Amino acid sequence: MNVLFFADVVGRPGRELLVAKLPGLRERFEADVVVANGENVTDGKGLKPSHAEALLRAGVDVITTGNHVWRQRDIYRYLSDEPRVLRPYNFLESNPGRGVTVVDTHSGRLGVVNLLGDLYLYPARSPFEVVDRALEELQGVRNVIVDLHAEATSEKVAMGWHLDGRVSAVIGTHTHVRTADARVLPRGTAYITDAGMCGSRDSVIGVKKELVLERFLSQLPVRFEVATDDVWLEGVVVEIGSDGHARSIEPFEVGAMS
Ligand SMILES: [Fe+2]
Ligand SMILES: [Fe+2]
Repeated sequence: MNVLFFADVVGRPGRELLVAKLPGLRERFEADVVVANGENVTDGKGLKPSHAEALLRAGVDVITTGNHVWRQRDIYRYLSDEPRVLRPYNFLESNPGRGVTVVDTHSGRLGVVNLLGDLYLYPARSPFEVVDRALEELQGVRNVIVDLHAEATSEKVAMGWHLDGRVSAVIGTHTHVRTADARVLPRGTAYITDAGMCGSRDSVIGVKKELVLERFLSQLPVRFEVATDDVWLEGVVVEIGSDGHARSIEPFEVGAMS
């Protein structure tokens, strides 16, 4: 099974390029299933149901999210009704939605877990405390990927080792900067600390760079806007063998012109 994973999709530029390129990329990477992190899809903050629907219609099978998931209020009800769109598992159990799902593909089932890191992101519970319970919900599902949406590299690396041999892949998101450490760990779990971003590179992690600089230089509040130029799609392709272990993990980047 080949899993095509897109890192944080930022605003209209990221969304539109993903929708335009997805059919070709599905073919090029022989993808059986497509997962995208959608926490920044709507104006850089959160995910409106209409935008989630647009991505699902374009061929995304599962959308994960992260710390920005609650920014669009109308997502609350939608998360409760739509099992293909996840919020981090380790928020309060009473919060809308779910953090685990299973998708059927012609190559078998894929379980997806969405977790939020502790540092700066304030989940209700530690991802390390709850991950076993999340995996119990996926008993009998051999292929499982985990999107650990987290700030700290150490937290993500540690989770990779914690889950090595127990899931097919641990893929980090949130920093919007791709790391150079993609590899298959010794017991068969594909790992990368951060898969990158689908958005503008003429930016500071997706936001217009002039505005971010103004904030850093003035130390005063500045309203952020999503940057629009030099848009790229970044992510990873994970090949999973019939035993549920990863065979390979390959980062990719695709520009508007490529
Ligand atoms: Fe993000
Ligand atoms: Fe985030």
